Amino acid sequence: MGLNKEALDSNGNTASSNPSAAADRAPVRGRGARFDGKAVLITGAAKGMGKRTAGDLLSEGAKVVICDVDHRALALTVEEFEALGGSVRGFVCDVSQREEVDRLVGYTVSEYGGLDILINNAGILIPGSIEETSDEIIRNTLDINVKGVLYAIRAVTPIMKSQGYGRIINVSSITGKNGDNSSCFAYGASKGALISLTRSVARQLGPFGITCNAIAPHAVMTAMMSYWSEEKKQQIAEKIPVRRLGTEQDMSNLMRFLASDEASFITGETVNINGGYYMD
Ligand SMILES: NC(=O)c1ccc[n+]([C@@H]2O[C@H](COP(=O)([O-])OP(=O)(O)OC[C@H]3O[C@@H](n4cnc5c(N)ncnc54)[C@H](O)[C@@H]3O)[C@@H](O)[C@H]2O)c1
Repeated sequence: MGLNKEALDSNGNTASSNPSAAADRAPVRGRGARFDGKAVLITGAAKGMGKRTAGDLLSEGAKVVICDVDHRALALTVEEFEALGGSVRGFVCDVSQREEVDRLVGYTVSEYGGLDILINNAGILIPGSIEETSDEIIRNTLDINVKGVLYAIRAVTPIMKSQGYGRIINVSSITGKNGDNSSCFAYGASKGALISLTRSVARQLGPFGITCNAIAPHAVMTAMMSYWSEEKKQQIAEKIPVRRLGTEQDMSNLMRFLASDEASFITGETVNINGGYYMD
């Protein structure tokens, strides 16, 4: 199995139920080898939209390292992808820990001889209004959603510069653009920070053949949104012009476009992907 041994031994490897929906199990096929030979690192990819994107990149020829803090889900995802074929490795990593992120990036380069595409997808959402937001929520949210991204970008920069090529994609959120009306004060701030840092990275690394973009989703049906009731989901869908919620496949489609050579003239953008709910 391509799960990093060192991390596996220290964390154990007991099987548990995989929370990903059955819809996650069918990667995109038939696009040829758009990412043939490209080395990809994607964080928080044991579940949700990161998992879907990793599976689709694999099926388009990429060599993929998926990292996650959830080692059980990670082991299951790596096993699932290995059964489909392709080059995949798992690495247990908490992106809020700088040393772990440095090891993760070093591992990717040692396995695949470079690092062409970084997708900063790992993130947490702890709901809470202003008054409900504790120091711990602020610390955890900013450590994972912001510092984790800064650490990863800093670690890959010398590698991508030496290659003269790189694609960096950050997963922001509609709340980072529009603010949030009540329910996730710290989360919105963390996702707003990603929009600003995406522009800075684009300016600084553009001359080296490296692009940096972000996506700003809204209401994608992953485990992260499981705190919404069915009734709430329906109410939200009714307010979206295309009258449906987002899917992991929608997110994978956009992330892979931004990661592709076809997107080489796009950088510093945070692309809305929300069925028209928010436009700017
Ligand atoms: N689902 C939505 O509606 C939505 C909307 C906007 C933005 N997003 C963003 O999309 C990204 C992916 O979320 P998702 O909806 O697929 O949720 P998800 O919870 O299914 O996936 C997030 C993954 O990140 C991992 N993770 C959490 N903390 C980590 C850490 N410290 N180190 C490494 N991995 C960690 C989790 O274990 C999980 O596998 C997140 O950044 C999220 O904020 C989601």
